[in-house]
Amino acid sequence: MVRDALLLNRRNWDDRARVHGQDRIYDSESLVAGASSLTEVEEEAIQLAVGRVAGLQVIHLQCHIGFDSISLARAGAMVTGLDFSPVALTKAAGLARRCGVDLALVEADACHPPSRLFSRFDLAYATIGVLCWIGDLDAWMSAAHDLLRPGGSLALVEIHPFVGMIDTLAPLRLDFPYSFDGPHFFNTPGSYTDPLAPVVSTATVQFAHSVGEVVTAAVGAGLTVRWLREHTAAPRDYRGDLGAPEADGRYRVRLGGEPVPMLYTLVADRAG
Ligand SMILES: C[S@@+](CC[C@H](N)C(=O)[O-])C[C@H]1O[C@@H](n2cnc3c(N)ncnc32)[C@H](O)[C@@H]1O
Repeated sequence: MVRDALLLNRRNWDDRARVHGQDRIYDSESLVAGASSLTEVEEEAIQLAVGRVAGLQVIHLQCHIGFDSISLARAGAMVTGLDFSPVALTKAAGLARRCGVDLALVEADACHPPSRLFSRFDLAYATIGVLCWIGDLDAWMSAAHDLLRPGGSLALVEIHPFVGMIDTLAPLRLDFPYSFDGPHFFNTPGSYTDPLAPVVSTATVQFAHSVGEVVTAAVGAGLTVRWLREHTAAPRDYRGDLGAPEADGRYRVRLGGEPVPMLYTLVADRAG
């Protein structure tokens, strides 16, 4: 099952990577012109995990087309981007060239990275839309642990599973559980960048992971959880259906007027 999910999801991500790059989420021209893709929430997670990244070895897990990898490299990190999509990695390499930035890029399943990368990294960085593709959360956390050098840190910023349950906001309709209950099959046209994007392989398999399950997996992998914060506002409209930001420039989902958790940040350390 996990193997089938991997194949189906990789086909979908190869297709998405082909069409991503000049859209409402990924603005390649701005990136090439020098803009950073890191949001305030990601900057905070990095700051909490390691302070400044200059001079550090960073593994960017599920790096997609390399926007954050390039931004981290520009901040002085030595960055290895890892993803299972060869199309995404080819695009990341092209963008890095255009940006004049060096990236090491590795094609691998995030749950089973090559052992030559073990114990090499000061920071394992993964953000926004990574864990829902992972059937075996324990394996993902163990991989993050093994990639870190002793004393290294994981910075994970993820879509909160509460908001991940919501299919449509008006009318309010849920189509995903809060916590893990096995695979969920979807067949959704387009991508989060554009629902009309010409994605051919639209079938995906996704998995829910509650915040408690993520913390428990991190601890089970031998990591010490140092920081867990749930954010009731997001710096971007990751869903594409939130409308205008609120007066402070942030996006919220409000139910009965109260903002629900949108993202969470987890910082955890490998023992030194
Ligand atoms: C939503 S994107 C991550 C977005 C990224 N934070 C960014 O800003 O571009 C998810 C990425 O995870 C990758 N992916 C999904 N499952 C994977 C797996 N098992 N191993 C490695 N990469 C995987 C996809 O190829 C895709 O590039």
